[in-house]
Amino acid sequence: MFQGRNFLTLLDYTPDEIRALLKLAHQVKAEKKQGIFPKRMANKNVVLLFEKTSTRTRCAFETAAYDEGANVTFLSNSQMGKKESLEDTAKVLGRFYDGIEFRGFKQETVELLAKYSGVPVWNGLTDLYHPTQVLADWMTIEEHVKKPLNKVKFVYVGDARNNMGNSLMIGCAKMGMHFVGIAPKALFPSEELVERMRELCKETGGKIELSDSIDAVEGADVIYTDVWVSMGEEAQFEERIRLLEPYRVTMDMLKKTGNPDVIFEHCLPSFHDLETSVGKDIYDRFGLKEMEVSDEVFRSKHSVVFDEAENRMHTIKAVMVATMSDTLDK
Ligand code: CP
Ligand code: NVA
Repeated sequence: MFQGRNFLTLLDYTPDEIRALLKLAHQVKAEKKQGIFPKRMANKNVVLLFEKTSTRTRCAFETAAYDEGANVTFLSNSQMGKKESLEDTAKVLGRFYDGIEFRGFKQETVELLAKYSGVPVWNGLTDLYHPTQVLADWMTIEEHVKKPLNKVKFVYVGDARNNMGNSLMIGCAKMGMHFVGIAPKALFPSEELVERMRELCKETGGKIELSDSIDAVEGADVIYTDVWVSMGEEAQFEERIRLLEPYRVTMDMLKKTGNPDVIFEHCLPSFHDLETSVGKDIYDRFGLKEMEVSDEVFRSKHSVVFDEAENRMHTIKAVMVATMSDTLDK
Protein backbone atom coordinates (compact mmCIF):
# COMPACT_ATOMS: atom_id res chain seq x y z
CA MET A 1 0.00 0.00 0.00
CA PHE A 2 2.76 2.44 0.95
CA GLN A 3 6.13 0.90 0.18
CA GLY A 4 8.34 3.08 -2.01
CA ARG A 5 5.96 6.04 -1.91
CA ASN A 6 6.81 9.66 -1.16
CA PHE A 7 5.09 11.76 1.49
CA LEU A 8 5.11 15.24 -0.05
CA THR A 9 1.59 16.52 0.64
CA LEU A 10 -1.59 15.04 2.10
CA LEU A 11 -3.19 15.72 -1.28
CA ASP A 12 -1.48 12.53 -2.51
CA TYR A 13 -3.05 10.32 0.19
CA THR A 14 -6.61 8.98 0.37
CA PRO A 15 -8.67 9.19 3.58
CA ASP A 16 -8.22 5.42 4.06
CA GLU A 17 -4.45 5.74 3.67
CA ILE A 18 -4.32 8.60 6.20
CA ARG A 19 -6.40 6.49 8.59
CA ALA A 20 -3.99 3.58 8.11
CA LEU A 21 -0.98 5.81 8.87
CA LEU A 22 -2.71 7.11 12.02
CA LYS A 23 -3.48 3.55 13.09
CA LEU A 24 0.16 2.58 12.59
CA ALA A 25 1.25 5.67 14.58
CA HIS A 26 -0.94 4.63 17.55
CA GLN A 27 0.53 1.11 17.25
CA VAL A 28 4.19 2.23 17.22
CA LYS A 29 3.50 4.60 20.13
CA ALA A 30 2.00 1.76 22.17
CA GLU A 31 4.93 -0.51 21.26
CA LYS A 32 7.49 2.08 22.34
CA LYS A 33 5.68 2.62 25.67
CA GLN A 34 5.95 -1.15 26.26
CA GLY A 35 9.63 -1.21 25.30
CA ILE A 36 8.99 -3.13 22.09
CA PHE A 37 11.37 -2.10 19.28
CA PRO A 38 10.89 -4.34 16.22
CA LYS A 39 13.70 -2.67 14.16
CA ARG A 40 11.64 -2.51 10.99
CA MET A 41 14.22 -0.21 9.39
CA ALA A 42 17.38 -2.20 10.22
CA ASN A 43 20.20 -1.60 7.71
CA LYS A 44 18.41 1.39 6.18
CA ASN A 45 20.19 4.73 5.79
CA VAL A 46 18.28 7.99 5.75
CA VAL A 47 19.42 11.55 5.10
CA LEU A 48 17.78 14.62 6.61
CA LEU A 49 18.21 17.76 4.50
CA PHE A 50 17.48 21.02 6.31
CA GLU A 51 17.49 24.49 4.71
CA LYS A 52 15.42 25.88 7.61
CA THR A 53 15.84 25.43 11.36
CA SER A 54 14.03 22.73 13.37
CA THR A 55 13.76 21.08 16.76
CA ARG A 56 10.81 18.66 16.59
CA THR A 57 11.01 17.55 12.98
CA ARG A 58 14.70 16.76 13.00
CA CYS A 59 14.51 15.04 16.38
CA ALA A 60 11.39 13.11 15.39
CA PHE A 61 13.04 11.74 12.24
CA GLU A 62 16.23 10.89 14.13
CA THR A 63 14.64 9.18 17.14
CA ALA A 64 12.14 7.35 14.95
CA ALA A 65 14.98 6.11 12.75
CA TYR A 66 17.13 5.00 15.71
CA ASP A 67 14.19 3.22 17.39
CA GLU A 68 13.67 1.23 14.20
CA GLY A 69 17.34 0.46 13.57
CA ALA A 70 18.09 2.93 10.75
CA ASN A 71 21.19 5.12 10.43
CA VAL A 72 20.86 8.88 9.96
CA THR A 73 22.88 11.63 8.27
CA PHE A 74 21.90 15.22 9.08
CA LEU A 75 22.83 17.50 6.18
CA SER A 76 22.38 21.25 6.28
CA ASN A 77 25.39 22.41 4.27
CA SER A 78 25.35 20.32 1.11
CA GLN A 79 26.34 21.42 -2.40
CA MET A 80 22.67 21.18 -3.48
CA GLY A 81 21.56 24.09 -5.62
CA LYS A 82 24.87 25.91 -5.09
CA LYS A 83 27.59 23.87 -6.78
CA GLU A 84 25.43 20.91 -7.81
CA SER A 85 21.99 20.83 -9.37
CA LEU A 86 19.02 19.45 -7.52
CA GLU A 87 18.72 16.67 -10.08
CA ASP A 88 22.33 15.56 -9.64
CA THR A 89 22.13 15.82 -5.86
CA ALA A 90 18.95 13.73 -5.80
CA LYS A 91 20.56 11.06 -7.99
CA VAL A 92 23.63 10.92 -5.70
CA LEU A 93 21.58 10.76 -2.50
CA GLY A 94 19.41 8.04 -4.01
CA ARG A 95 22.56 5.88 -4.42
CA PHE A 96 23.56 6.29 -0.76
CA TYR A 97 20.24 6.39 1.05
CA ASP A 98 16.99 4.47 1.36
CA GLY A 99 14.97 7.56 2.28
CA ILE A 100 15.32 11.36 2.14
CA GLU A 101 13.70 13.97 4.36
CA PHE A 102 13.68 17.59 3.16
CA ARG A 103 12.78 20.77 5.05
CA GLY A 104 13.16 24.05 3.22
CA PHE A 105 11.58 26.75 1.17
CA LYS A 106 10.17 25.55 -2.14
CA GLN A 107 7.70 22.69 -2.51
CA GLU A 108 9.28 22.20 -5.94
CA THR A 109 12.55 21.15 -4.27
CA VAL A 110 10.98 18.25 -2.39
CA GLU A 111 9.12 17.25 -5.55
CA LEU A 112 12.33 17.25 -7.62
CA LEU A 113 14.14 15.22 -4.98
CA ALA A 114 11.33 12.68 -5.25
CA LYS A 115 11.41 12.73 -9.03
CA TYR A 116 15.14 12.08 -9.36
CA SER A 117 16.27 10.15 -6.27
CA GLY A 118 14.34 6.91 -6.78
CA VAL A 119 13.80 6.49 -3.00
CA PRO A 120 10.96 7.66 -0.72
CA VAL A 121 11.12 11.40 0.00
CA TRP A 122 9.36 12.93 3.03
CA ASN A 123 8.35 16.57 3.30
CA GLY A 124 9.53 17.95 6.64
CA LEU A 125 8.00 21.39 5.85
CA THR A 126 8.09 23.72 2.89
CA ASP A 127 6.63 27.20 2.42
CA LEU A 128 3.48 25.52 1.11
CA TYR A 129 2.84 22.42 3.23
CA HIS A 130 3.75 20.65 6.49
CA PRO A 131 2.05 17.27 6.08
CA THR A 132 3.79 15.23 8.80
CA GLN A 133 2.66 17.82 11.36
CA VAL A 134 -0.99 17.24 10.48
CA LEU A 135 -0.70 13.51 11.18
CA ALA A 136 0.55 14.34 14.69
CA ASP A 137 -2.25 16.88 15.13
CA TRP A 138 -4.92 14.34 14.13
CA MET A 139 -3.37 11.64 16.32
CA THR A 140 -3.50 14.04 19.28
CA ILE A 141 -7.16 14.86 18.57
CA GLU A 142 -7.91 11.14 18.53
CA GLU A 143 -6.31 10.86 21.97
CA HIS A 144 -8.06 13.86 23.54
CA VAL A 145 -11.42 14.41 21.82
CA LYS A 146 -14.02 11.75 22.42
CA LYS A 147 -15.42 11.88 18.88
CA PRO A 148 -14.36 10.39 15.56
CA LEU A 149 -12.44 12.87 13.38
CA ASN A 150 -15.38 13.33 10.99
CA LYS A 151 -17.49 14.72 13.87
CA VAL A 152 -14.84 17.25 14.94
CA LYS A 153 -15.21 21.01 14.45
CA PHE A 154 -11.64 22.19 13.92
CA VAL A 155 -10.95 25.92 14.11
CA TYR A 156 -7.66 27.35 12.87
CA VAL A 157 -7.03 30.94 13.92
CA GLY A 158 -4.25 33.13 12.51
CA ASP A 159 -2.24 33.07 9.28
CA ALA A 160 -4.58 30.81 7.31
CA ARG A 161 -2.50 30.93 4.10
CA ASN A 162 0.74 29.54 5.54
CA ASN A 163 2.00 25.95 5.32
CA MET A 164 -0.02 24.94 8.42
CA GLY A 165 -3.20 26.68 7.30
CA ASN A 166 -3.00 24.91 3.93
CA SER A 167 -2.12 21.49 5.30
CA LEU A 168 -4.71 21.55 8.10
CA MET A 169 -7.46 22.55 5.66
CA ILE A 170 -6.44 19.69 3.35
CA GLY A 171 -6.28 17.28 6.31
CA CYS A 172 -9.78 18.30 7.43
CA ALA A 173 -11.22 17.91 3.93
CA LYS A 174 -9.61 14.47 3.60
CA MET A 175 -10.98 13.22 6.92
CA GLY A 176 -14.46 14.69 6.51
CA MET A 177 -13.96 17.23 9.30
CA HIS A 178 -15.53 20.66 9.70
CA PHE A 179 -12.70 23.17 9.08
CA VAL A 180 -13.15 26.80 10.07
CA GLY A 181 -10.32 29.16 9.13
CA ILE A 182 -10.47 32.42 11.06
CA ALA A 183 -8.16 35.12 9.71
CA PRO A 184 -8.15 38.64 8.34
CA LYS A 185 -9.23 38.42 4.70
CA ALA A 186 -5.70 39.32 3.56
CA LEU A 187 -4.50 36.04 5.08
CA PHE A 188 -7.17 33.70 3.72
CA PRO A 189 -5.84 30.63 1.87
CA SER A 190 -5.81 30.72 -1.94
CA GLU A 191 -9.26 30.52 -3.53
CA GLU A 192 -8.01 27.75 -5.78
CA LEU A 193 -7.10 25.50 -2.83
CA VAL A 194 -10.30 26.37 -0.95
CA GLU A 195 -12.43 25.47 -3.98
CA ARG A 196 -10.53 22.24 -4.48
CA MET A 197 -11.06 21.29 -0.83
CA ARG A 198 -14.76 22.17 -0.99
CA GLU A 199 -15.07 19.81 -3.96
CA LEU A 200 -13.28 17.08 -1.99
CA CYS A 201 -15.65 17.67 0.96
CA LYS A 202 -18.55 16.65 -1.29
CA GLU A 203 -17.02 13.15 -1.27
CA THR A 204 -15.81 13.01 2.33
CA GLY A 205 -18.65 14.82 4.13
CA GLY A 206 -16.31 17.56 5.36
CA LYS A 207 -17.01 21.29 5.38
CA ILE A 208 -14.73 24.29 4.76
CA GLU A 209 -15.63 27.69 6.18
CA LEU A 210 -13.62 30.90 6.28
CA SER A 211 -14.40 33.92 8.43
CA ASP A 212 -12.70 37.07 9.62
CA SER A 213 -14.77 37.07 12.82
CA ILE A 214 -13.66 35.30 15.98
CA ASP A 215 -17.34 34.63 16.72
CA ALA A 216 -16.89 31.65 14.33
CA VAL A 217 -15.10 29.73 17.12
CA GLU A 218 -18.50 28.78 18.54
CA GLY A 219 -18.86 25.03 19.03
CA ALA A 220 -15.19 24.30 18.33
CA ASP A 221 -13.71 21.02 19.57
CA VAL A 222 -10.20 22.17 18.69
CA ILE A 223 -8.65 25.64 18.49
CA TYR A 224 -5.36 25.65 16.60
CA THR A 225 -2.93 28.44 15.93
CA ASP A 226 0.56 28.86 14.51
CA VAL A 227 3.15 31.65 14.51
CA TRP A 228 2.13 34.89 12.81
CA VAL A 229 5.36 35.01 10.81
CA SER A 230 6.70 31.80 9.31
CA MET A 231 10.33 30.97 8.66
CA GLY A 232 11.62 33.07 5.78
CA GLU A 233 9.04 35.86 6.25
CA GLU A 234 10.77 37.68 9.12
CA ALA A 235 10.63 41.04 7.29
CA GLN A 236 6.84 40.99 7.69
CA PHE A 237 6.53 41.15 11.50
CA GLU A 238 5.14 44.68 11.63
CA GLU A 239 2.42 44.03 9.05
CA ARG A 240 1.47 40.65 10.55
CA ILE A 241 1.21 42.01 14.08
CA ARG A 242 -1.11 44.74 12.80
CA LEU A 243 -3.26 42.17 10.99
CA LEU A 244 -3.25 39.38 13.56
CA GLU A 245 -3.26 40.98 17.01
CA PRO A 246 -7.08 40.75 17.23
CA TYR A 247 -6.78 37.00 16.51
CA ARG A 248 -4.59 36.00 19.48
CA VAL A 249 -5.89 32.83 21.15
CA THR A 250 -6.95 33.85 24.66
CA MET A 251 -9.05 32.37 27.44
CA ASP A 252 -11.90 34.64 26.30
CA MET A 253 -11.68 33.02 22.87
CA LEU A 254 -11.77 29.53 24.38
CA LYS A 255 -14.82 30.56 26.46
CA LYS A 256 -16.49 31.88 23.32
CA THR A 257 -16.46 28.33 21.92
CA GLY A 258 -19.03 27.38 24.60
CA ASN A 259 -17.21 24.04 24.87
CA PRO A 260 -15.62 23.48 28.31
CA ASP A 261 -13.62 20.57 26.86
CA VAL A 262 -12.19 22.47 23.88
CA ILE A 263 -8.54 21.56 23.30
CA PHE A 264 -5.79 23.92 22.18
CA GLU A 265 -3.23 22.77 19.59
CA HIS A 266 -0.13 24.49 18.19
CA CYS A 267 2.55 22.94 15.99
CA LEU A 268 5.24 24.83 17.97
CA PRO A 269 7.54 26.66 18.38
CA SER A 270 5.31 29.31 19.98
CA PHE A 271 5.71 32.90 21.14
CA HIS A 272 3.66 32.78 24.35
CA ASP A 273 6.13 34.53 26.67
CA LEU A 274 9.37 36.52 26.64
CA GLU A 275 11.73 33.57 27.03
CA THR A 276 13.07 33.74 23.46
CA SER A 277 15.39 36.21 21.75
CA VAL A 278 12.82 36.81 18.98
CA GLY A 279 10.06 37.29 21.56
CA LYS A 280 12.18 39.83 23.45
CA ASP A 281 12.99 41.69 20.24
CA ILE A 282 9.27 41.88 19.38
CA TYR A 283 8.56 43.16 22.90
CA ASP A 284 11.21 45.88 22.48
CA ARG A 285 9.88 46.89 19.07
CA PHE A 286 6.12 46.52 19.51
CA GLY A 287 5.48 46.07 23.26
CA LEU A 288 3.87 42.60 22.87
CA LYS A 289 4.52 40.10 25.69
CA GLU A 290 2.84 37.24 23.84
CA MET A 291 1.88 36.82 20.21
CA GLU A 292 -0.37 34.15 18.67
CA VAL A 293 -1.45 32.60 22.01
CA SER A 294 -1.58 33.88 25.57
CA ASP A 295 0.70 32.24 28.09
CA GLU A 296 -2.43 31.43 30.11
CA VAL A 297 -3.96 29.34 27.30
CA PHE A 298 -0.61 27.75 26.42
CA ARG A 299 -0.20 26.48 29.99
CA SER A 300 -3.89 25.72 30.62
CA LYS A 301 -5.59 22.33 30.95
CA HIS A 302 -6.96 22.85 27.42
CA SER A 303 -3.47 22.79 25.92
CA VAL A 304 -2.24 19.49 24.45
CA VAL A 305 0.80 20.97 22.74
CA PHE A 306 3.40 18.68 24.29
CA ASP A 307 1.45 15.50 23.52
CA GLU A 308 1.21 16.87 20.00
CA ALA A 309 4.98 17.46 19.91
CA GLU A 310 5.65 13.90 21.12
CA ASN A 311 3.28 12.55 18.50
CA ARG A 312 5.51 14.01 15.77
CA MET A 313 7.91 11.16 16.58
CA HIS A 314 5.29 8.41 16.45
CA THR A 315 3.60 9.67 13.28
CA ILE A 316 6.89 10.27 11.47
CA LYS A 317 7.96 6.77 12.49
CA ALA A 318 4.74 5.45 10.96
CA VAL A 319 5.41 7.30 7.70
CA MET A 320 9.01 6.07 7.48
CA VAL A 321 8.16 2.48 8.37
CA ALA A 322 5.22 2.40 5.94
CA THR A 323 7.09 3.86 2.98
CA MET A 324 10.62 2.50 3.50
CA SER A 325 10.52 -0.71 5.53
CA ASP A 326 10.46 -4.07 3.78
CA THR A 327 9.10 -5.77 6.87
CA LEU A 328 5.78 -4.01 7.48
CA ASP A 329 2.83 -6.34 7.01
CA LYS A 330 1.19 -4.77 3.98
N1 CP B 1 6.45 21.80 14.51
C1 CP B 1 7.65 21.75 13.94
O1 CP B 1 7.81 21.45 12.75
O2 CP B 1 8.68 22.04 14.78
P1 CP B 1 10.19 22.29 14.36
O3 CP B 1 10.23 23.55 13.53
O4 CP B 1 10.93 22.44 15.67
O5 CP B 1 10.68 21.12 13.57
N1 NVA C 1 4.36 28.11 9.85
C1 NVA C 1 5.54 27.78 10.62
C2 NVA C 1 5.50 26.36 11.04
C3 NVA C 1 6.65 25.93 11.92
C4 NVA C 1 6.57 24.50 12.32
C5 NVA C 1 6.78 28.09 9.81
O1 NVA C 1 6.81 27.72 8.63
O2 NVA C 1 7.70 28.70 10.33
